[in-house]
Amino acid sequence: MRIPAFLSLLLASRVYSYVVNDGTTCEIYPEALTYNGQAVDDAPSIHQAFDLCGTNGTVVFTNHTFHINSVLNTTNLVNCDVSLRGELRFSTNIPYWRSHVFSVIYQNQSTAWLFGGTNVTLRGEGGWINGNGQTWYTENKNQANQPGRPISITFFNSTNLLADGLTIIQPQFWATFVWESKNVSLTNFFVNATSDDQWDTTNTDGYDSWRSDTLLVENATITNGDDCIAAKGNTTNLLVRNVTCYGSAGMTIGSIGQYPDWPDYVQNVTFDNIHCVNSGEGAYIKTWQGVPVTDDSNGDVGGGGGGLVKNVTFSNIHMENVALPIQISQCIYSEADGKYCNTSKLQIEDVAWVNVTGTSRYNIAASLYCSSAVPCPGVTFDNVSFESVNHTLGLPMWNTTLQDEVYQCGNIVGQNSSGIPCNRVAPDNFSQGVTHNVQ
Ligand SMILES: *[C@@H]1O[C@H](CO)[C@@H](O)[C@H](O)[C@H]1NC(C)=O
Ligand SMILES: *[C@@H]1O[C@H](CO)[C@@H](O)[C@H](O)[C@H]1NC(C)=O
Ligand SMILES: *[C@@H]1O[C@H](CO)[C@@H](O)[C@H](O)[C@H]1NC(C)=O
Ligand SMILES: *[C@@H]1O[C@H](CO)[C@@H](O)[C@H](O)[C@H]1NC(C)=O
Ligand SMILES: *[C@@H]1O[C@H](CO)[C@@H](O)[C@H](O)[C@H]1NC(C)=O
Ligand SMILES: *[C@@H]1O[C@H](CO)[C@@H](O)[C@H](O)[C@H]1NC(C)=O
Ligand SMILES: *[C@@H]1O[C@H](CO)[C@@H](O)[C@H](O)[C@H]1NC(C)=O
Ligand SMILES: *[C@@H]1O[C@H](CO)[C@@H](O)[C@H](O)[C@H]1NC(C)=O
Ligand SMILES: *[C@@H]1O[C@H](CO)[C@@H](O)[C@H](O)[C@H]1NC(C)=O
Ligand SMILES: *[C@@H]1O[C@H](CO)[C@@H](O)[C@H](O)[C@H]1NC(C)=O
Ligand SMILES: *[C@@H]1O[C@H](CO)[C@@H](O)[C@H](O)[C@H]1NC(C)=O
Ligand SMILES: *[C@@H]1O[C@H](CO)[C@@H](O)[C@H](O)[C@H]1NC(C)=O
Repeated sequence: MRIPAFLSLLLASRVYSYVVNDGTTCEIYPEALTYNGQAVDDAPSIHQAFDLCGTNGTVVFTNHTFHINSVLNTTNLVNCDVSLRGELRFSTNIPYWRSHVFSVIYQNQSTAWLFGGTNVTLRGEGGWINGNGQTWYTENKNQANQPGRPISITFFNSTNLLADGLTIIQPQFWATFVWESKNVSLTNFFVNATSDDQWDTTNTDGYDSWRSDTLLVENATITNGDDCIAAKGNTTNLLVRNVTCYGSAGMTIGSIGQYPDWPDYVQNVTFDNIHCVNSGEGAYIKTWQGVPVTDDSNGDVGGGGGGLVKNVTFSNIHMENVALPIQISQCIYSEADGKYCNTSKLQIEDVAWVNVTGTSRYNIAASLYCSSAVPCPGVTFDNVSFESVNHTLGLPMWNTTLQDEVYQCGNIVGQNSSGIPCNRVAPDNFSQGVTHNVQ
């Protein structure tokens, strides 16, 4: 046991290295305070604090910079309140992280921090998580799903968990992941993944959920280079409201249908009061094709998975300069092949877009293509209207004869009564990466 000089007045308390414990509250101080500001790993003290105060207690990250040089596993907390008043700064030792991160099973992804339990709060009381992700963005060079590139914080195996006021800057990979949990809320949530060099912030999703039920995301501002919010397999009863996404790939169900052994059921999802600015996509559903492709170590190939998407609402959504505002694709990673888009057997039904307005970057507002193997019933539009940015400026649509906003449809059951102003047959090889006016 070391007793740092600056804590000597606290001798009445029990001091465990840099954890001050008065019984049920553990305050954590960083090692840097006695090591002349050196980036000494604070993970051991953090684990000690959670061991002491993780059940029926309070853990406080005091208002200092903490160096997170090794993985954190703070799970199985019970009736625990956590206050984040300082900065948690992850180290950039890529070889270390690659060989020590925890698997999250899904897509062979991994995480630097497993967090959770029963009746847990995590409050960002002026503090924040700094994933120090620039090092990862630069090293990643726009690759997808690089193995061992960790999610900043994963809420795992949790019931009744509230993360309020959580701020994550420069996440290494996805900022958050909710995994095998129930009744988890993220409120007043802020993420900013912005690269300061020529490499993109690929895979810096703001929020992803998997195998989880009864979820809330409310009041969030997310700036990133991938999905703003993504409901993945077996996400049920998710409500997302009042979220602003800058850049990003918008709000999505998916991708799903990747694994034949794990059918994906996504039901009762509402995205309400959302603002997407300069996003690649806006409000959409993406599944893999119905034919599996050999898996690789990245876990980013697959397909052939079944399941069901049912009862999804995208309401009160405003978009500005979004490349592909609305989409259903059932061949999200094989579109270009033009031969798989009718193979998915993952049924999509009862999906409503209500009050969805704004500007599209090109001449297309919506591409809705369901697999012919499972045409989509109950897909509806109500008060959906888009105008291309060029059109708002009085400019022509370059290199196309299609001067009206395009709404293209394929395999929509009851298309004529859907409220969708379909004016073009959706091709079966349409790419979500829209980079110019469609022909
Ligand atoms: C935590 O509190 C609960 C309810 O107050 C109690 O039943 C349980 O024994 C306590 N656990 C510990 C380890 O103190
Ligand atoms: C995390 O810690 C818990 C103990 O609280 C342990 O049971 C679990 O195996 C650990 N998880 C990993 C991935 O090491
Ligand atoms: C969690 O909180 C609820 C409501 O306060 C309580 O009934 C339950 O016992 C708590 N769970 C545990 C494991 O302490
Ligand atoms: C943390 O300390 C800084 C000064 O070092 C201060 O500006 C900031 O307001 C403090 N934050 C909190 C939550 O007390
Ligand atoms: C998940 O949480 C339950 C308590 O809710 C616990 O019994 C179980 O050991 C936890 N599983 C893991 C892998 O930590
Ligand atoms: C995100 O960070 C970048 C770079 O630091 C900054 O320019 C931008 O204003 C931030 N965005 C928000 C919404 O704070
Ligand atoms: C929406 O969330 C933002 C934070 O992202 C907050 O500033 C704003 O007050 C919220 N608006 C409403 C109506 O709740
Ligand atoms: C969202 O923000 C608004 C405005 O600041 C606030 O009134 C509301 O309580 C927030 N919602 C949550 C769940 O914190
Ligand atoms: C989803 O839940 C069903 C059972 O309801 C299960 O068969 C399937 O494997 C689960 N899928 C995932 C991705 O966990
Ligand atoms: C659809 O989901 C919403 C929550 O998003 C729920 O309120 C509603 O009852 C569900 N409808 C049906 C028919 O299950
Ligand atoms: C969807 O919501 C309805 C109405 O609340 C509920 O009855 C149904 O069980 C929910 N479905 C799932 C899969 O949770
Ligand atoms: C759509 O907008 C109208 C007019 O603002 C509003 O009355 C209606 O409640 C909105 N619909 C939904 C589902 O929010």
